[in-house]
Amino acid sequence: VIAFQSFSPGKKLSIDDEQQGLNDQVIIKFSHVVAENTPKGLAAKRFAGLVEKYTEHKVRVEVYPNQSLYSDGEEIEALQRNEVQMIAPAASKITELSPKWLLLDLPYIFPNHEALKYALTGEIGTELLSSLEEEDIKGLSFWSNHFKQITSNSPIRHPSDFKGKNFRIMKSRVLEEQFSHFGATTSATAFNDTFKNLEKNEMDSQENTITNINSKKLYQVQKYMTISDHGYLGYAVLVNKRFWDSLPGDIKEDIEKAMAETTDWLWEKSQEMNTQQMEEIKSNSRIQIYTLTNAEKRAWMREMTVIYGQFEPSIGKELMEKAQVIRQ
Ligand code: LMR
Repeated sequence: VIAFQSFSPGKKLSIDDEQQGLNDQVIIKFSHVVAENTPKGLAAKRFAGLVEKYTEHKVRVEVYPNQSLYSDGEEIEALQRNEVQMIAPAASKITELSPKWLLLDLPYIFPNHEALKYALTGEIGTELLSSLEEEDIKGLSFWSNHFKQITSNSPIRHPSDFKGKNFRIMKSRVLEEQFSHFGATTSATAFNDTFKNLEKNEMDSQENTITNINSKKLYQVQKYMTISDHGYLGYAVLVNKRFWDSLPGDIKEDIEKAMAETTDWLWEKSQEMNTQQMEEIKSNSRIQIYTLTNAEKRAWMREMTVIYGQFEPSIGKELMEKAQVIRQ
């Protein structure tokens, strides 16, 4: 656990004191796997700036993007060992640790950002975050990205078009079933291997948000994109619990304030970025984009939601019911 030495409030620091103060700075290593020009990448940097400001440099957040410290498969364990103090994995990547999180992967579980925000800032979010405490992890917030779209090397307009395809997915039983139910195979691989794997034809399809597709240029190795909004990709900001508990109350408050501000900013910003980067994809690539009609979307919804039932024992009946109430 990183040692923390507090400063006397209001004390005027001499140059030597200031140097000493900087030496005593608490460092939070924040590791993530996406590029900087993405909702999570920008949020992490913004959060780092706000923490330094509110704590008057008593805490410094070092952000490590693009899997430069740990890949998806490693970062949760690195957090538990306190090798990094903060991570923001996609909800799917938490599902092995706490199966309740499978809820957020269910296709079409929340129809829009308002419903998502309501769920994640309310009882559902609280229950999901507190399920991690027994794993020595404290959940601080939910950061938004956007709904996922499908890319492939042949057109996909109907769930039956998934048949025979091999999808790169994040490791999650729901995501596996979402595709295998329609006769596709799946490979759960690290996000930063996706371009390479698609390029080498080790898989021919994937699902992700527009900002992730754009920042990793997946449009260069995929021919078709279907705007389906069939599933949500968002993050939980997690901190090592023992590290968190070791911080003084006022520092925790400053960090929570920085987190709340960043989270609010990101709800708007992530939507704006996904819209704007869609235009970048259109102008920078020849990928053929098809947007499902409302009728087609309803058909996808009807066919995909049949998988819900088999995950109820893992997610829990009560949580499923709470989600269904918001969904309707
Ligand atoms: C993915 O693996 O596709 C995403 O989780 C990447 C991310 O963190 O947005």
